Amino acid sequence: MVAIAALAAVPAVARQTILHVQRSSPGDLEVGGELAGVPPGTTRYIRYENLLQMPQELSTVSDDSNFHGKTEIVGVALETLVRLLGATPNDALIVAICYDQYRTNYSRDYLATHHPVLVLRMNGQLRDHWPLSPSGGPLGPYLISHPSFTPSFKVLSHEDEPQIPYGITRIEFRREATVFGAIRPPGNWLAGSSVEQGFVIARQDCFRCHNMGAEGGQLAGRSWLQLARRAEEDGPLFRKIIRNPASVTPGAKMPAHGDYDDATLNALTDYFKTFSGLGRKP
Ligand code: HEC
Repeated sequence: MVAIAALAAVPAVARQTILHVQRSSPGDLEVGGELAGVPPGTTRYIRYENLLQMPQELSTVSDDSNFHGKTEIVGVALETLVRLLGATPNDALIVAICYDQYRTNYSRDYLATHHPVLVLRMNGQLRDHWPLSPSGGPLGPYLISHPSFTPSFKVLSHEDEPQIPYGITRIEFRREATVFGAIRPPGNWLAGSSVEQGFVIARQDCFRCHNMGAEGGQLAGRSWLQLARRAEEDGPLFRKIIRNPASVTPGAKMPAHGDYDDATLNALTDYFKTFSGLGRKP
């Protein structure tokens, strides 16, 4: 990934001039959470052209499954967005929310290791000219990619996965302790215990589609506590759903985790069961 000298030299646009109170078009990026200079919880809108004025990074990507082959991308690094817009850059977690309520959480570690980029141009083209995603949907209004992705951890059979959402409409600047705290297993679990291992896996994978209250994705429409109840009441069914959802729900939208071995499924079961007391209906 290289900063583009000519564009990087453009002076940083004053925050107030890019954080608009009103939406100007459906393609504006909604931003919220803890933004510098406005009360927490305030929503603002950034125009595509304002994002194009921010410092840009250029990279050629050949390992992103959202693209048809090798693609040159130009956009703003999420680390740059945190630095320019976040109220608490040192404790910032970026949440990218898509039109279908899928959401990706970018921890500080992930940002520093993988340098994700909010893509604004593909192969020199502005977004009106972008191809569709391989699954046939629009990639815009915003998507996130990386200069290249090398997994940085492995827990049981779960390997660090590239977080490459498309159809992003909103970005939130949050605190890592708040967002991940919502799904921290209650109690003191040793690092390396199966509950802690399940937590690390669920935090990166399941949390994109399954919510705990206001945190996490809502694409699945099944909350963390519902999952906890499943894990508690019928462990074998819970594990079967994770490994092969279509075998339980014909036409399931949830992706299969066919590569998760028994130890991995057990860790997820142990982890989710820590919430089952909360999940039980009175
Ligand atoms: C890409 C989105 C997505 C991800 C990631 C995901 N799920 Fe799901 N999940 C769904 C959807 C959607 C459903 C509803 C049924 C369907 O269409 O598959 C579902 C349903 C379920 C159910 C059945 C709940 C019920 O009571 O009906 C369980 C259990 C479950 N998911 C567990 C998990 C676990 C554990 C993970 C992480 C390892 C996970 N899911 C990751 C989308 C997802």
